[in-house]
Amino acid sequence: MNFLHSDDLSREQINEIFEMSDKLKGMNKRPLKKSSPILALLFEKSSTRTRISFESAMIQLGGSPIYIDSRTSQMSRGESLGDTAKVLSGYVDIIAARMYSQQDIEELARHAEIPVINALTDLEHPCQALSDMYTIRNEFVKVEGLRIAFLGDIAANTANSLMVTASKLGAGISLVGPKGYMPDERYVKLAKKYANVEVTSSVKEGLADCDVIYTDTFVSMGQEEIAKERKALFSGYQLNAEALRYAKKGAKVMHCLPAHRGEEITADVIDGGSSMVWEQAKNKMAVEKAILLYLLNAKS
Ligand code: CP
Ligand code: NVA
Repeated sequence: MNFLHSDDLSREQINEIFEMSDKLKGMNKRPLKKSSPILALLFEKSSTRTRISFESAMIQLGGSPIYIDSRTSQMSRGESLGDTAKVLSGYVDIIAARMYSQQDIEELARHAEIPVINALTDLEHPCQALSDMYTIRNEFVKVEGLRIAFLGDIAANTANSLMVTASKLGAGISLVGPKGYMPDERYVKLAKKYANVEVTSSVKEGLADCDVIYTDTFVSMGQEEIAKERKALFSGYQLNAEALRYAKKGAKVMHCLPAHRGEEITADVIDGGSSMVWEQAKNKMAVEKAILLYLLNAKS
C-alpha cells in the first residue's frame, strides 16, 4: 500500500493511525527491531521537519533511514524515476519521497515494489495533514463539527491535503484567500463529499466562528522566482492579532512551518498563547511512526 494522496486513507484507517500514534508517542520499545527495515528518504526539495522526524521515527522504531538527495544521485543526471524505483526496491523496504510534481511521485510508486509515502509534492502534503488533524483531535477531542479556516495560499499543497483530511473527519472548512485566487477545484470537490466547504475573500467572514486558523508560507518551494508577486497578492491575508479576533474566542493557530514572521503570520501570533505550532511540529514524528508501521504491516 502507498500513501500518495490524502484521500488514500478512509476515515477508519485515519482513526486507526491516530490510535497507533497515541501508543507510539511516548514509547521507547522498538517494534521493528527484529526485522530492521530500511526507509529511503528520496528528496528533491529542502526539508527540516519531515526529513528529521521520519529519520528519527525510523530509528526509534528499530529500523534505519537513508537520506538520498536527488541532486547528488544519478537522478540529477537523467536516470529515470522508474529505474530508480526498481533499483531502490532491491535495497530498502519503504520510500518516503519529496518531489516537485505529484505525477512524478505517482510514476515512482508505479515502478516501486515497496510502499511509497508522499513527503510533499506540488499538490499534496498528506503526512502533514494527517499529523495536523491528530494535533487538532488531541486538542479538541472531537473533530466532528469543528470549523477550520485556511488563510492565505488556499491553493497550496498544505491546503489541498488539509481540506480532504479534515473534511473526512467531519470538520467544516473555510478557505480564505484573495479575490479571484481560487482553491484547486478537484480538492474542493473531494472535500465537499465529506463536509461543508466555503470559499471567501473576506477575512472577517471566513474566520468567523472558526476553532482553528491555519496558514502556510505565501511562497512555496519552487515559486521563488515569483516571490514578490505572491507576497503582494496575499498581503491582506496575514494571520495577525486583528485576524485572530474574528475567530472564536480561544481559537487555535496552526502553521506547518517553516514560518516567515511578518509575512503570512506575525510574531505575536505564532509565538503567542493561541499557537499550537510547536506541538504540531512535534506530533509529526508520532504520526509518521504510525504511518511507517501501518504501511509495513507491523503492529504498534
Ligand atoms: N512542515 C514541513 O514539511 O516542514 P519541512 O519542509 O521542514 O519538512
Ligand atoms: N507550501 C509549502 C509547505 C512547506 C512545508 C511548500 O510547498 O513549500
